Amino acid sequence: MIFRQLFDSTSGTYTYLIASRQGGEALIIDPVLEKVDRYLQLVRELDLKLVKAVDTHLHADHITGLGALRDRTHCITVMGEQTAADVVSMRVAEGDRVSIEGLSLDVLYTPGHTDDSYSFLTGGRVFTGDTLLIRGTGRTDFQNGDPRQQYDSIFNKLLKLPEDTLVYPAHDYKGDTVSTIGEEKRFNPRLKVGSVDEYVDLMNNLNLPNPKMMDVAVPANIHVGLHQDEIAAKGWAVSAVEAMALSGRADVAIVDLREKAEREKHGAIPGALHAPYPELRENIGAGGMLHELALATGKRIVFYCAFGERSAMAVEAAQAAGLISACHIEGGIDAWKRANGPLVGHGTARQT
Ligand SMILES: [Fe+2]
Repeated sequence: MIFRQLFDSTSGTYTYLIASRQGGEALIIDPVLEKVDRYLQLVRELDLKLVKAVDTHLHADHITGLGALRDRTHCITVMGEQTAADVVSMRVAEGDRVSIEGLSLDVLYTPGHTDDSYSFLTGGRVFTGDTLLIRGTGRTDFQNGDPRQQYDSIFNKLLKLPEDTLVYPAHDYKGDTVSTIGEEKRFNPRLKVGSVDEYVDLMNNLNLPNPKMMDVAVPANIHVGLHQDEIAAKGWAVSAVEAMALSGRADVAIVDLREKAEREKHGAIPGALHAPYPELRENIGAGGMLHELALATGKRIVFYCAFGERSAMAVEAAQAAGLISACHIEGGIDAWKRANGPLVGHGTARQT
């Protein structure tokens, strides 16, 4: 496994680059905008392909690198389903998995620092965001933070992990890089409380100043999405209602770009073909399935995904590859559901 911990000294943020092997797919956790060039250089040097960029929560102290990494690598952006960030390509919830070639992260919902705070667990390491820090915990006094929820996330979820699980937080201001669950149980001063009420009192009386970047970072981090209106202005988008009229037509192929687990959990448009986003380049290139479908049979390709971000990128790529009738469903399956579009395969996911 390739595992790199990178540091942004301005915001004290740790960013993690993970891959199962050299030459393979990689994902990055909590990237910082100003460091994107460095991440991409490292990705090239290690011969990796960045396919997913994950934020543990909506950050208030730095601008996320998610949007820039998405623009430069066409990777999928991942955050929790509660996030206010406008267009995240994949929204996850407790019990989901974030998978890349050769490894997957278990998704733990750990609210409290913010209401969209998640932790990610893989191979004896837990990435705790700002929920559990080294000898500290994330503040709970803004962005719908809640010390009671944080107590529950820490005591009833994170501290239940095996004691030797390595703890990798999103920040450290003292120079510590890694801890373990056992160590934090024993030595974290914030966790030396006798009850949830005591923890709530402690957290409500920290009287911290707001982060310096907060007024800039929060609005910027809410608007990280690819601008779907730019795709629509080019005539490359249809609304969910328009897509319903196209669905089932012999001259139209509706193409689902999501992963299998997403289709099983959220349902799919009846009759849609499945062509996962990571294989898009092969599918739209000469000899590719979608290339042949569009150019040999003259079908109009209508892409969709979860919220319209992957499909917007797919339309741009398909148009560039000469599939000039390609379009996408603005807002994805989320918009389709809100328009009461029919679904198949919903709820076939294993209940965990
Ligand atoms: Fe934070």
